[in-house]
Amino acid sequence: MKFVPLSQSGRPLEYRPEDFRLRSEPSLPGKWEGEVRAPSNIALVKYWGKKGLQVPMNPSLSFILRDAVTFTSATAERIPPADEVRFTLRFEGRPAPAFEPKIHTFFRRILPYSPWIRRYRWEIHSRNNFPHSAGIASSASAFAALALLVVQLEKEATAGQSDEYWRAKASFLARLGSGSASRSITDRIGIWGKHPAVPGSSDFYAVEFPFGTHPAFDDLRDLVLLLQEGRKAVSSTAGHQLMEAHPYREARIRQANTHLARLIDALRTGNWDEFGTVTEAEALSLHALMMASDPSFILMNPDTLKWIEKIRRFRRRHDLPVYFTLDAGANLHVIFPARIEDDLRRRMPDLFDVPHLLSRL
Ligand code: PMV
Repeated sequence: MKFVPLSQSGRPLEYRPEDFRLRSEPSLPGKWEGEVRAPSNIALVKYWGKKGLQVPMNPSLSFILRDAVTFTSATAERIPPADEVRFTLRFEGRPAPAFEPKIHTFFRRILPYSPWIRRYRWEIHSRNNFPHSAGIASSASAFAALALLVVQLEKEATAGQSDEYWRAKASFLARLGSGSASRSITDRIGIWGKHPAVPGSSDFYAVEFPFGTHPAFDDLRDLVLLLQEGRKAVSSTAGHQLMEAHPYREARIRQANTHLARLIDALRTGNWDEFGTVTEAEALSLHALMMASDPSFILMNPDTLKWIEKIRRFRRRHDLPVYFTLDAGANLHVIFPARIEDDLRRRMPDLFDVPHLLSRL
C-alpha cells in the first residue's frame, strides 16, 4: 500500500470541510506572481449526479491525461477588500468573457475557505496544450489550476500545514469549480467519493489510489477519437441534475460502488479483462442514464457506435487488451497498454487516421 496520511490514532487521515478554513491571519504580500499546471483526467468509474454543493452521488475513479495540460499564471495585486473577487482573464492570449461567470461562481464558493482572495485584483492567463473544442474535460484542468494558484499563495502566506493538507485543500477547492477537477490534483489515479474499500477517501476531495497497481497497468495510452463537432447537447451541470429524480438512481449508486471495488481489484491484480469489462460498462451506463433521463439525451453519434463495434471486433479477433470509455459526449477514448501501440497501428491503421489526441495515462 502506498503512503496514506495517518491521524494520531493511526487511522488514515480524513479532513473535514471545516479543516480547510483558515486558522490564522495570513501574512499577505503586496504583489504576488505564480504559475501552475494541471492535467485533465478521464474517469473510468463515472461521477454522474450530486447532492448539495458538489457532493458526489457516488464515488468515481480517474486516470490523469498526462499530455492534456492547462497552464495558468496569475499576478495578484493588493486592493482594499472587495465584495466580489476582482479578476481579469485571458485565455490563449485573448479575453474570454464566456468563462467568467463560472469563475465568479468558483471564487464565490471558495470564499468561506480562503477569504483573503478578495484582497487582491487577479490578472489570470490560461492556456491549454490541447484544443479547447476537442471535448476533452478542460474544465477539470482549468479549475484544478486555479485552485492550485490559490493554494500556492495561501501556503506561502501561512505556516504549519503538511503537503498532504495543501494537496487535499487544492482538490477540495477545485471540486467547488467542477467536480471532476478534484481528481486533477492527483499524480495518476484519483478516487473521489467515500468508499469503504478506500482508506482516507472523502466526498469532499480526491485521494491518490492508495494501493500498488499491477505492472500490467504501468504504461497506458488513451487515444481520444475526436468524433464530435460543436458543443455538447447537455452541460454536465444539467446532466447531474437529471440524476436527482432519475428512475435508476438507486441502482446507479449501487452499480458505481460495485464497479469501483471491482476496478480496484483489477488494477491491483493485473486483470485486464475485468478492467475492460468494468470500464466499458461504466461508459455505456453513463450514456444509458442520459438516454433514460427526462428529458433524454443521446450524445453518441453514428461514428461513436461504429468505433465501439470495431474496437470490440478487433479485440475478439486479435485477443489484445484494447477497450473504450466515453465522457458526456461523442468522443471515444480508446485505452490500451503502450506495448501494443505498434500492433494497433499496423493492424488497425484507420484508427489513427481519425482526428485524435494521444495521451499517456
Ligand atoms: O466535473 P463535471 O461536473 O463537469 O462532471 C463530469 C462528469 C463526467 O465527466 C461525465 C464523469 C466524470 O466523472 O468525469
